[in-house]
Amino acid sequence: MNKLSIVILAAGQGTRMKSDLPKVLHPLAGKPLVQYAVDTAAQLTPEKPLLVVGHGVAQVRQATGDQVVYVEQREQLGTGHAVLQARPLLEGRSETVLVWYADMPFLSTKTLRRLLELHAKHESPITMLTVEADDPMGFGRILRDEAGQVVGIVEEAVATEAQKAIRELNCGVYCFDSHWLWPHLTQLPLSPKGEYYLTDLVAMAVKEGKVVQAFKICDATEVLGINDRTHLAQAEAIMRQRINEKWMLEGVTLLDPSLIFIDATVEIGQDTVIYPNTYLQGATTIGCHCRLGPNTIVRDSTVGDGCIIEASVVEGAVLEEEVDVGPFSHLRKGAHLAKGVHIGNFGEVKNSYLGPGTKMGHFSYVGDATVGQGVNIGAGTVTCNYDGQRKHRTIIEDGAFIGSDTMLVAPVRVGDGAKIGAGSVVTHDIPPRSIAYGVPARVKGEVKEEG
Ligand code: UD1
Ligand code: CA
Repeated sequence: MNKLSIVILAAGQGTRMKSDLPKVLHPLAGKPLVQYAVDTAAQLTPEKPLLVVGHGVAQVRQATGDQVVYVEQREQLGTGHAVLQARPLLEGRSETVLVWYADMPFLSTKTLRRLLELHAKHESPITMLTVEADDPMGFGRILRDEAGQVVGIVEEAVATEAQKAIRELNCGVYCFDSHWLWPHLTQLPLSPKGEYYLTDLVAMAVKEGKVVQAFKICDATEVLGINDRTHLAQAEAIMRQRINEKWMLEGVTLLDPSLIFIDATVEIGQDTVIYPNTYLQGATTIGCHCRLGPNTIVRDSTVGDGCIIEASVVEGAVLEEEVDVGPFSHLRKGAHLAKGVHIGNFGEVKNSYLGPGTKMGHFSYVGDATVGQGVNIGAGTVTCNYDGQRKHRTIIEDGAFIGSDTMLVAPVRVGDGAKIGAGSVVTHDIPPRSIAYGVPARVKGEVKEEG
């Protein structure tokens, strides 16, 4: 039997988001809300968490893949009913069941660990998380007796004025003793709203003479739930500030953190400096000693040490060390720039490899090409890779010199050390170390060996 099973609730419709996208898939700092819960669960146990899903099952499955075990709740009959759906998979398989919601991205592993510790110390059927907060946020209120013991939870909708004044709130995070949980879940009464409330378990336990433990926290941010897009924006601001602070403490300089947007999925090396209006998104890794921005987007890319990217857009690209890009260039999917490549202004590279030290300074397009090392790509060079139906490759070998305004009509190869004169249209392969120019380009001589 496993010690711990985790159940994450995500079946609610999220009506207030007013969205075609299920609530838990809305991104927060570039990561779907549900992924925060999944990542937190992974820190607590290697056993996959159960995700209770209802609305948008197919979309959620697509985003979360096999990181979780799915449990479908076809009708949303309340939080108690939602947990009950996990019974066939979990009963008799674990000692403790930990439950929380997929829309609470700030809930920390540390807090959950402490909750589990408290639960382990006592023989309680339920150990719950509560928060003392000035703003009751519509949460259920914790009822305690004179001795200070928890005796129940009352939902805001049915609370008396006196109960509404209570500032200890139910976070919706619970540890249950599974032997007690499963049989009791089936006994939940139907609420006036026609739902089965998980919260009613508390009064049930107390009625049986059991003690319900509560672990009280003071930071309400931790249990901030995302219900509409104003909450999402608040959460985004808090998350972004935390991410920025983390990277500054790791040795990254942010010139103005309020204008720098780093997804939760990004890694950055020490002594990198980031200027305002820079967005680092998706599966992006930035090396040490880089300079990024201002006005730069790097998305799903790997950037090596010592790179400079200024006022440019880099997506789906790999930059090895000491590459410099921009201002005003665009690296697209499959661009792979080796060490020391220089891309100046108004350059575009797609699905191409550029070898070490190759330079492409001004107004050029390189697509579907393999370019060797030490190549000079003159201003305005274009690989004409598309014939209207298909894409073709251009190969430029080591040390070639491509004159300004050259059109390379693919498929075509420019040999090792060849020189192409300005304004040429290259329609046939050019042999190594030859000199060619014209429209169409013809071989007119040979490059003399130096020295
Ligand atoms: C619940 C608690 C309340 C607590 C608050 C904290 C109950 C009855 N009340 O209220 O005491 O203060 O959370 O946020 O539990 N869900 C399902 N299936 C369902 C219903 C809900 O999966 O049938 C999921 C939702 O996706 C959501 C979570 O459970 O993530 C909470 O449901 P919600 O209806 O928002 O509960 P609250 O009214 O906020
Ligand atoms: Ca809620």
